[in-house]
Amino acid sequence: MKLSDRLLAIANLVPKNSIVGDIGTDHGHIPTYLIENKISKKVIGTDISKGSLEKIIEYVKGLGLEDKIDTRLGDGLEVIKPYEIDTLIIAGMGGLLIRDILEKHKETSDSIIDFILQPMVASKELREYLINNNFEIIKEELVKEENKYYEIIYAKKGKCFLEKEIYYEISPILLHSKHPLLKEFVESKIIASKKIIKELEGINTAKSKERYVELNRLIKEYEEVIVEIES
Ligand SMILES: C[S@@+](CC[C@H](N)C(=O)[O-])C[C@H]1O[C@@H](n2cnc3c(N)ncnc32)[C@H](O)[C@@H]1O
Repeated sequence: MKLSDRLLAIANLVPKNSIVGDIGTDHGHIPTYLIENKISKKVIGTDISKGSLEKIIEYVKGLGLEDKIDTRLGDGLEVIKPYEIDTLIIAGMGGLLIRDILEKHKETSDSIIDFILQPMVASKELREYLINNNFEIIKEELVKEENKYYEIIYAKKGKCFLEKEIYYEISPILLHSKHPLLKEFVESKIIASKKIIKELEGINTAKSKERYVELNRLIKEYEEVIVEIES
């Protein structure tokens, strides 16, 4: 199994000999890779979609890995019992959905040691949830695939504190490690914000004016982060 750069970066964060739950596994590539490369002892691949799960069941059967990869149909952590897994992967979903999955089945979520989360959007809201709910963000990764950036968060239960508001959106871990993609990632956010500002210029409502001011403030903060990256 050859993984894409995004999935490989996720798999590289999985602890050796782990028992993993891959929520929303879809194609089942992560479970297969983790077992074939002897990273995990067992993986439970789950999905809310019957169609996705049937695909995985066939795929796992074809590889003869049914004894090591369990497949379950269900919503988030409802199909995982407390203490059944030590490592959780939730990748390729929105940050708010990831947050809701963690929050909905607290007994299971509280029994997990390692959390590998890859939000497609709303990474800021996900970091806010983690930091306000006794998680410590240990490591982060940034991957670029086909001109899109993917943030990957590795967290454990614990405490952490962010010095600046902007660090909920731009990871201080990536900043302090001077991640090679970080500058262009922040620049892409500036470009996107400027594009929205241009669109707002023709609209004369209180809401658009508020958003205009907010985006200009955000651009200043992004520019300060770029100065930090370059220092
Ligand atoms: C875009 S795919 C991501 C697949 C894979 N995790 C990846 O990162 O490449 C999202 C998958 O999550 C599943 N999904 C969405 N909400 C879910 C939920 N609440 N519980 C379990 N699976 C869910 C979808 O059915 C879909 O297969």
